[in-house]
Amino acid sequence: MHQYINEFAGFENKEVTVKGWVANIRVSKTNVFIVFRDGTGFAQCVVSEDIIGNEDFESAKKLTQESAISLKGNVVRDERQIGGYELQVHQLDIIHLSTEYPITPKEHGVKFLSDNRHLWLRSTRQWAIMRIRNQVIMGIHHYFQNNGFVQMDSPIFTGNAAEGTTDLFETDFFGNPAFLAQTGQLYGEAMAMAQGRIYTFGPTFRAEKSDTPRHLAEFWMIEPEMAFFDNEMNMDLIEDFIRSLINHILNNCKHELNLLERDTTKLESVNQTFPRVTYDEAALILRGEKEVNGKNAITVQQEDLKKAEETIAAHLKDIEEREQKIKSGVKKGERRFHEGKILQLRKEITDLEEQVRNIPKWIESAKNFEYGNDFGNSDETVLTRVFDAPVMVYNWPTKIKAFYMKEHPENPEIVKCVDLLAPDGYGEIIGGSERENNYDTLLRKIEEHQLPTEAFDWYLDLRKFGSVPHSGFGLGLERMVRWVCGLHHLRETIPFPRRYGRLTP
Ligand code: 4AD
Ligand code: MG
Repeated sequence: MHQYINEFAGFENKEVTVKGWVANIRVSKTNVFIVFRDGTGFAQCVVSEDIIGNEDFESAKKLTQESAISLKGNVVRDERQIGGYELQVHQLDIIHLSTEYPITPKEHGVKFLSDNRHLWLRSTRQWAIMRIRNQVIMGIHHYFQNNGFVQMDSPIFTGNAAEGTTDLFETDFFGNPAFLAQTGQLYGEAMAMAQGRIYTFGPTFRAEKSDTPRHLAEFWMIEPEMAFFDNEMNMDLIEDFIRSLINHILNNCKHELNLLERDTTKLESVNQTFPRVTYDEAALILRGEKEVNGKNAITVQQEDLKKAEETIAAHLKDIEEREQKIKSGVKKGERRFHEGKILQLRKEITDLEEQVRNIPKWIESAKNFEYGNDFGNSDETVLTRVFDAPVMVYNWPTKIKAFYMKEHPENPEIVKCVDLLAPDGYGEIIGGSERENNYDTLLRKIEEHQLPTEAFDWYLDLRKFGSVPHSGFGLGLERMVRWVCGLHHLRETIPFPRRYGRLTP
């Protein structure tokens, strides 16, 4: 049996055998430095000529990126190394020599990487993201299983729409039309009446032709559904669940978050109370007509814009000074240092320039937000910016929400629902509601939404036999992973993304 990199702590100054791949290689006169990966992590392995002998050293020098190898060596503590250990190799066996691996250490374009997703998954960042995704999944099951919920599997072939009729994937089901499930919720409601509290965890499909960083055509959704829960209890559960999940990640993914250079203080915001504002209040805040703890959403954006402009100016000056120094002739090491800094500053400037371009548009859109509309991407960014924690926006206009949401007893123009918005522009990660449990109201809503009533006979039955107040919500797994990892685009949050314009590999 061989050992794994993530077990090195238990093998300090002992011999191990590891099997894996060459992530990177650097050859000096007497040493070959391999960044080695075995799936559990990355470790620097040093092959020295005086230890393994001339012949093996020559073959080590010929190793290529992504060659498969087996190494025997001693584990030595070394703080400076990735993972905190180094392997001093005394035996090298080549299992497979790789040729011309396409993803070289230089920068590659997104299309190229996406076309090579089957290989891209091996890169450090992608490795870390997938490990975090795994822990998010574990944390979700952990939470619900420990809180009395029963996991259920809802069908993927369905006979009807549940989240709007425009984005259905139609397939052929033995000669009849069927749709890929947009949600498991309606079936979850049936199961909640049998089991009390349930959650689904499965793939869902939306044929949205939107090529945006936050839309996939196939994504995973977690949908708890609870009998005898009103929307307030629903919101309490959302808050407790997200707090618990983030803390699970912070405790279990330190190394991975570190590799991604994720600022974890941003995630720790979940330990504060999540503000709850109604849709009406949110609209006022967005337009700058209502302040939050003395903060005005529009003013905050104007300040952000000013700060971005100032930082760009300061960075440009910094770059100029460093270029002067390089010109005046400095030692090689110092020159490299300045060049590295300049590169980093230029990258930051590019991001800041994007902000400078965007913020005025965001301000316009926020100021002119029309009551009754859904919040756009930038509106969510502007809105959440004035809060210190994820925000719950509840009680939305009936017109823009799904048919199954509970009409507010005092005002049929609004429904008892909630969206959870993550901070820093990550936006909606959860949508949920109390469900309409009155037979007549639900039937009317189905008709108003021009849905085929026959298809909902079974769903209406739930309002005929022991109908009770009940609520639930849906968390988008990839949206959650995106926020946790601090990623721009959902394409990196799932092993093989399916989205508008992308079906392969
Ligand atoms: O808000 P949505 O559409 O709500 C439902 O589907 C309800 N049936 C949930 C429920 O109450 N049981 O979707 C829920 C979440 C969103 O908040 C978002 O995180 C994610 O699913 N989501 C998507 N993720 C990736 N790509 C898409 N196209 C998504 N559409 C929704
Ligand atoms: Mg939604």
